[in-house]
Amino acid sequence: MSSDKAIRGQLLYFVDDPATAGEAAWVYHADGIIWIESGRIRLADDAQQVLPHLPRGTEIDVLEHHLLVPGFIDTHIHYPQTEMVAAYGERLLEWLETYTFPVESKFSDPDYAAEIATIFLDELLRNGTTTALVFGTVHPESVDAFFSEAQRRKLRMIAGKVMMDRNAPEYICDEAEQSYRDSKALIQRWHGIDRLQYAVTPRFAPTSSDRQLALAGRLLREHPGLYLHTHLAENPEECAWVAELFPHSKHYLDVYDRAGLLTRRSVFAHGIHLCDDSCKRLSDTGAAIAHCPTSNLFLGSGLFELDRLTERGVNIGMGTDVGGGTSFSMLQTLADAYKIQQLRGRKLDPFRALYLATLGGARALDLEDKIGSFRSGCEADLVALDLHATPFLKFRTARCRSLFEMLFVLNTLGDDRAIARTWILGEVAHSREV
Ligand code: GUN
Ligand code: ZN
Repeated sequence: MSSDKAIRGQLLYFVDDPATAGEAAWVYHADGIIWIESGRIRLADDAQQVLPHLPRGTEIDVLEHHLLVPGFIDTHIHYPQTEMVAAYGERLLEWLETYTFPVESKFSDPDYAAEIATIFLDELLRNGTTTALVFGTVHPESVDAFFSEAQRRKLRMIAGKVMMDRNAPEYICDEAEQSYRDSKALIQRWHGIDRLQYAVTPRFAPTSSDRQLALAGRLLREHPGLYLHTHLAENPEECAWVAELFPHSKHYLDVYDRAGLLTRRSVFAHGIHLCDDSCKRLSDTGAAIAHCPTSNLFLGSGLFELDRLTERGVNIGMGTDVGGGTSFSMLQTLADAYKIQQLRGRKLDPFRALYLATLGGARALDLEDKIGSFRSGCEADLVALDLHATPFLKFRTARCRSLFEMLFVLNTLGDDRAIARTWILGEVAHSREV
């Protein structure tokens, strides 16, 4: 039996960054077809171009009032914080002590971890997110539970065990050598298995000793292709604390740099308070920043300088940062990203926004050859955005006179209700009941 299938509707994807390539950055077809063969994109083009080539009998799924886009890529999220989204009243450091560490301590229980992993992945797919870079907890069990569930669903996911050996309650800390051994065992068990990849995950500089950071660097050197995932310069009190804890480092990023943690596959969440030298090191090494707007607003962390980091050539992806972030929805995340730029007197246009959530995320994760676009050969993880998802969205999109306007309305008003369907490797993994 042929494994070919086709989806017909409006389609849009990016082949480059609109910030540098302008209109040449995207491909749009008002009546397009995505032809999928064995879970990969065979061809995505205007319907009239694709139809003659489709094998006879190929089923065509026709979507009348939808926009097909690549699955969203969330470059920073914490699955163990699923149950603590919307925790009241604190900024970063108190928020960690008051809410985060107690919740994360529950993940020593594999059954609890499995339950949350299931809820978390359901929620990602309901929101059209098909790949994410995910924090576990300090417990190796948290990573086993997460990867087991992701593997069962054939998802492309990156995750890792948190490393933290100081400045946190003892019940949630590990120890440097043990964290190295536990991480190594997880790497051997999961990295490169199916669509799963491992990220070495020191929580952030204040909760790791120099020894632990050095061992994180050793893991990266011993296993090429691994990711490095941590937090950077999110909040002014945190930055002042890092300067105190690491008096010999030039700046916050330098703490990681000295430990050998800056690579093409390093992703630093936030990066709000960065000096020019930090931007240059990020750009020179190809490391990426995960911009997490709902979290930055919710925790009062600061306003991300999107234009400055873009001009300095830093790779940038979007992150929800659940549970500091308040939504699993990449659309809602883009809506807040726009508002942050408004507060800075800058603009984020909807093409760039959608780029950041798709191909930009793939580039940040060094996965451009696999996900983030509809180029031939890419994995067929995609989403149908329903322009009629709610009566008001239908009313409002009917009045749009350009693709620009329609995308901006979707970015601003859309949420999980706008995700009509999510496909993983060409198979429907979420379908919204209406
Ligand atoms: N910095 C260190 N840990 C965390 C965390 O769990 N969430 C956020 N937003 N920042 C952090
Ligand atoms: Zn985070």
